[in-house]
Amino acid sequence: MEWRTEEYANPTEWSGNSMDTVIVTGGSHGIGRATCVRFAREGYHVAVMDIEEDAGQDVVREIEEAGGSADFWQTDVGNAESVRDAVEGILGRWGSIEALVSNAAIINRGGLETLTLEEWDEQVRVNLTGSFLVSREVAAHMIEAHKGAIVHVSSITGTHGGANGAGYVATKGGILAMGMSIALDLAPHGVRVNAVAPGTVSTRLTREKLSEPARASQIAAGIPLGRAAEPEDIADVIHFLCTDDARYMTGSVVTVDGGITASP
Ligand SMILES: NC(=O)c1ccc[n+]([C@@H]2O[C@H](COP(=O)([O-])OP(=O)(O)OC[C@H]3O[C@@H](n4cnc5c(N)ncnc54)[C@H](O)[C@@H]3O)[C@@H](O)[C@H]2O)c1
Repeated sequence: MEWRTEEYANPTEWSGNSMDTVIVTGGSHGIGRATCVRFAREGYHVAVMDIEEDAGQDVVREIEEAGGSADFWQTDVGNAESVRDAVEGILGRWGSIEALVSNAAIINRGGLETLTLEEWDEQVRVNLTGSFLVSREVAAHMIEAHKGAIVHVSSITGTHGGANGAGYVATKGGILAMGMSIALDLAPHGVRVNAVAPGTVSTRLTREKLSEPARASQIAAGIPLGRAAEPEDIADVIHFLCTDDARYMTGSVVTVDGGITASP
């Protein structure tokens, strides 16, 4: 899949013409950034929503220089007012929101012996409450429009657990359960809600372990497809879930882990 990554990095012909609007939370880095680029390539207007402005403006520049359309909305997804202001601003400027990718998250490693209550609370606030808040604001508009697609970015740790991450894992499981509930509420309104559960993806969240060669080969050896995912591997599936090709999918969790969870 090497060519895909290169193609994203050096887009020459961005042929999309949908004029739909997508919000990508956590769009300044990693999986969110690749998702912004993927949607822009398909002709969406991309609202990059993130707490980090400089990196987010880089994403906007990259998209615009390649002929796409994007703007940046500095937002703390765990703050109701901040989310409301951003969604209102996006609606005011672009008129509609066809897709939401709720991807922003933080990770504080630690289990019962080391994770502090403050670290637990902050992860719940950003990862879980943040997903609730953006979904709530955007869904109100999608219900009115009677169409839309929401994708929550969870993790295989949300379905299978993982050591030394009690708080993070709890939020990732919570996102899946919340998504399934919301999917039922929104189905009568023509709005679909699905989730992706990535395995190990090469981003700054995993940079530490993947930059150590011995550790990286050990990780790769435990992945049936033989390598960690690139952010684009996840972005492609997220994009698919927002297209009409996924029109009969709602309440689903799509695992994108190179076979990790299929291994005995
Ligand atoms: N990297 C992996 O191996 C992996 C595996 C499974 C799931 N995931 C999930 O993928 C998603 C993206 O992770 P990533 O690896 O790209 O990490 P990342 O750190 O590169 O990206 C996370 C983004 O969220 C933003 N963010 C953090 N707090 C925020 C807040 N309060 N408000 C708005 N934005 C905020 C950050 O600025 C950043 O741009 C996360 O939900 C993560 O849990 C990652």
